[in-house]
Amino acid sequence: MIEKINKLLEEVESFAPADIKELESLRIEYLSKKGKISVLFNDFRNVPPEQKKEVGEKINKLKQKAAEKINILKEQLSGSSDENIDIDLSRPGAKFDMGSRHPLSIIRNEIIEIFNRIGFIVTEDREIEDDAHNFGKLNFPENHPARDMQDTFFITPDMNILLRTHTSSVQIREMEASKPPIRSLSPGRVYRNEAICARAHCLFHQVEGLYVDTGVSFADMKQTLMFFAKEMFGEKTEIRLRPSFFPFTEPSAEMDVSCTLCGCKGCAVCKHTGWLEIMGCGMVDPNVLKAVNIDPKKYSGYAFGMGIERIAMLKYGIKDLRMFFENDVRFLNQFAKI
Ligand code: PHE
Repeated sequence: MIEKINKLLEEVESFAPADIKELESLRIEYLSKKGKISVLFNDFRNVPPEQKKEVGEKINKLKQKAAEKINILKEQLSGSSDENIDIDLSRPGAKFDMGSRHPLSIIRNEIIEIFNRIGFIVTEDREIEDDAHNFGKLNFPENHPARDMQDTFFITPDMNILLRTHTSSVQIREMEASKPPIRSLSPGRVYRNEAICARAHCLFHQVEGLYVDTGVSFADMKQTLMFFAKEMFGEKTEIRLRPSFFPFTEPSAEMDVSCTLCGCKGCAVCKHTGWLEIMGCGMVDPNVLKAVNIDPKKYSGYAFGMGIERIAMLKYGIKDLRMFFENDVRFLNQFAKI
């Protein structure tokens, strides 16, 4: 048996086919189901047990060697012999699939571009934060429910290090690092411990904005946000501010835009109200300014924050939030031309 294997090995090593056709017949002769090497495997049954290990290894090596040799010869032969190359120069070239921007990137860039035009500058920072920047300095009381395990992914058992739940943390860092006037925009990923469904995810994206200077008023905020809404959703868009609550702003509001899908007549998306809620906003609470050593008697400011997924869903009529994270090319392809 061993002799047989060695002989076949020699034969394999001396393969010298003239062209691809000859090579193919060698492949069939040695490696096909009924080929010389496969037959060896059948004979393997009769090898005495004490020789099985050695013989088995040798047969496997032989098979590997033959496959390698054939592959190498195939490459050499197909590269050199003209008769096997069939080129039709009049055929159109092979098509490549073009990539496209993710809808969340498109919307994110659009939001940034609109605020860039009125002087807001992008600031980014860490996703792993401490309690002080995500909650404490934002005036969250010690026992505020948002600090609860339900909403926040804590990293350390003392609950001090966590995944940021909003990008307001970036604004605290920005106010700590620079002096007013501050006009900053902080886009980024945020995390909340929520069950994943069509309307919620444990990971989503926000853009938050902050303006701090002398004499900044609620009217300034309203005008800025109205400008944004019209640029984003169209000239005819109207806005509405409803009283709300956030620990870090006082007064606080929730901003709605008129439903662009039904023209305020009422539809399933706006739940027949004619309005779509798109962001939270308000005047920066004096306690927040104090926490970052900005004198609230001298300076005031406004802040706002919105979810990028929410804006993208409204703009493109996407009904399920999970689609943003599945990366199904049939979904992504639709944004190729936007
Ligand atoms: N940080 C708030 C949130 O994550 C949004 C917000 C930002 C609200 C700024 C008011 C002012 O929901």
